[in-house]
Amino acid sequence: MKDIKILKGNIIYTEMPDTFTTLKNGYVIVEDGAVKECCEYLSKKYKNIPITDYKDKLIIPGLNDMHCHASQFKHTGLGMDKELVPWLFSHTFPEEKRFKDLKYAEQTYKNFINEIWKNGTTRSSVWGTLHKEPTELLIDLFLKSGLGAYVSKVNMDANTPEFLDEDTDSSLRETEEMIEKYLGKSQLVKPIITPRFIPTSSKELLKGLSKLSEKYSIPVQSHLSENLSEIDWVKELYPNSENYGSVYDLFGLFGQRPTLMAHCIHSDIEERTLMKKRGVFAVHCPTSNLNLGSGIMPIRKFMDEGIPVALGTDIGAGETCSMLRVMVSAIQMSKLAWMDSDKKLKFLSTSEAFYLATKGGGSFFGKVGSFEKGYEFDALIVDDSCFDMSSYPLEQRIQKFIYNGDDRNIIHRYVSGDLVKEPFPKSI
Ligand code: GUN
Ligand code: FE
Repeated sequence: MKDIKILKGNIIYTEMPDTFTTLKNGYVIVEDGAVKECCEYLSKKYKNIPITDYKDKLIIPGLNDMHCHASQFKHTGLGMDKELVPWLFSHTFPEEKRFKDLKYAEQTYKNFINEIWKNGTTRSSVWGTLHKEPTELLIDLFLKSGLGAYVSKVNMDANTPEFLDEDTDSSLRETEEMIEKYLGKSQLVKPIITPRFIPTSSKELLKGLSKLSEKYSIPVQSHLSENLSEIDWVKELYPNSENYGSVYDLFGLFGQRPTLMAHCIHSDIEERTLMKKRGVFAVHCPTSNLNLGSGIMPIRKFMDEGIPVALGTDIGAGETCSMLRVMVSAIQMSKLAWMDSDKKLKFLSTSEAFYLATKGGGSFFGKVGSFEKGYEFDALIVDDSCFDMSSYPLEQRIQKFIYNGDDRNIIHRYVSGDLVKEPFPKSI
């Protein structure tokens, strides 16, 4: 017997970046967790199926945060007077060291998962720390939550302080143990290979991680071309490399399997050409880029060149778990790029930002982020009655929610057809 759910309300999604697809007072039919159809009228064949009637509320796809560090949730907003590398050494690494303590990890990770749930993030690509057991706990908490995520331990075996370091062999061994423990366990929560970035990875580590990603067919995530001093550091370590991305590529960690690269602010045309060739995702994290003064990512170039683009909060360099705030920040940042380019790089429209936060990032998980037929039903039910705009077109109501809405407007969250309740109530 198929499991069929019918929801009624104002349906809004972005099949294409440049326009919202809307259906006022429409029905979405969900069969075994995936969208069967969105329709204006209900066919007779569904007459015995109960309808969840959300009345004048909005039904939109869930939001996908494609780059965030769960381990940095507590120290968001701290050390924001520094740029990337000094911030890592003075704030981030000491904070990540704390995760050796399982109790500390459990409390922080529960709070983090509650917070992303609250903000309507239904899937994410998440970083733990280098610690194996605490990161397994993070994976277990995601498994309990009902939310979708790629999650892994971080690998970092070079140029790090002694208090946050691991040796190459144990880093690889623990990563493989984690993969064996979790691979295939869940359709929603999966491991991902996570070298921190080139400067904190030995060549042996990169080689070993590439082998693991090939052996188990696991995707990869890391950081790329975020900060000019970071790029100089990579150049010092690999003087013969053409660019930063080509170093990952040298080791088979640049699109040989599905790959997310956060930031890509300073990627030049050669690096972008390689990203396009390999299908590497650029994850734009505008709030983080502003906070660390990293630069203005010319997102339009990536989109025009056909590089897959997604959005991320980059918690904790980004200060908010809200993908709504990240969408607005991405639009605002694209306006700076527009000004900087003598208006050549067109700024993002609201529908484009929404597309990136839904279908753009969602495509990394498969058919996620839209309500087209066959897409997994990840959705948010939005009560926007506080804005008193029920007579406005749906295109304007969604814009209003993106700019002025927040978690208080989100009344329900669905992942793959299932309603997801607050994962860890009262843990704060
Ligand atoms: N590059 C290497 N590690 C990090 C990190 O934790 N945050 C950010 N924003 N960039 C990084
Ligand atoms: Fe990051």
